[in-house]
Amino acid sequence: MGTCREKFLNWSLSRLIYVQVWLWLVEQLVVAIDGPAGAGKSTAARMIADRLQFDFLDTGAMYRCATLAALRAGVELTDQSSVAELVRQLDIQLEGRNVWLNGEDVSLAIRTPSVSSQIGPIADNMQVRRQLSQWQRSWAQDRHVVTEGRDQGTEVFPDARCKIFLTASSEERARRRVQELSAQGIEADYPGILDQQNQRDRDDARREFGGLRKAADAVEVVTDGMTLEQVVDRLETIIRPWISTPSPECQLDVRS
Ligand code: DC
Repeated sequence: MGTCREKFLNWSLSRLIYVQVWLWLVEQLVVAIDGPAGAGKSTAARMIADRLQFDFLDTGAMYRCATLAALRAGVELTDQSSVAELVRQLDIQLEGRNVWLNGEDVSLAIRTPSVSSQIGPIADNMQVRRQLSQWQRSWAQDRHVVTEGRDQGTEVFPDARCKIFLTASSEERARRRVQELSAQGIEADYPGILDQQNQRDRDDARREFGGLRKAADAVEVVTDGMTLEQVVDRLETIIRPWISTPSPECQLDVRS
């Protein structure tokens, strides 16, 4: 009788472990990628999401939508409550590379220099950040997601199992920016771009809300001298173990 009971208990325990491992494997995986502007984050994050067949959450697009909406409504961008009230009423949809704002495809409109240069007060608005962070969390629910921004691993998804801080030296980032501009036929001087970027990094680090910080448990990837393909390969090496065998040991293996 005793043996039978023991057998049953052993069997139940093994089933329980099996179910727990299974749940762990199918559980939503959030890959949070943060880092400074110019580190090649967006392109690499999108590419790795495609490669892994994860959904891609472009959080910058949300801040851009909020800015575009506030500019169109003629709201004073520094009027925090009015901007926050306006943002609460927005319907922002992200579908692949397309961004919809209140039913209108604004994929191009949110990337104009006018929007890019006026995001600052919106990104500094704590109420807006709260609202957008909430939308980001609900967007990610029940999906495997690669999310990209500056506060994803620290504030929006502090419990994300896989966090990556993608960065590059300021010199490398400035060189890339000069190349990008010259590919668009815009002549830019390297020292000027480097100065601007250093200033932006300092401002970003000082931000009271949503400042760029590396999460303590993020894996840092410095992309100096790497091609885009190499960066994406490196991301895959870091992320893959979390998909197949997401155990703490594998976390250590990846980081060592
Ligand atoms: O990644 P991007 O250039 O599209 O981002 C646009 C702006 O939004 C950028 O100035 C930083 C800000 N941003 C933010 O404050 N928090 C995020 N999670 C993502 C972007």
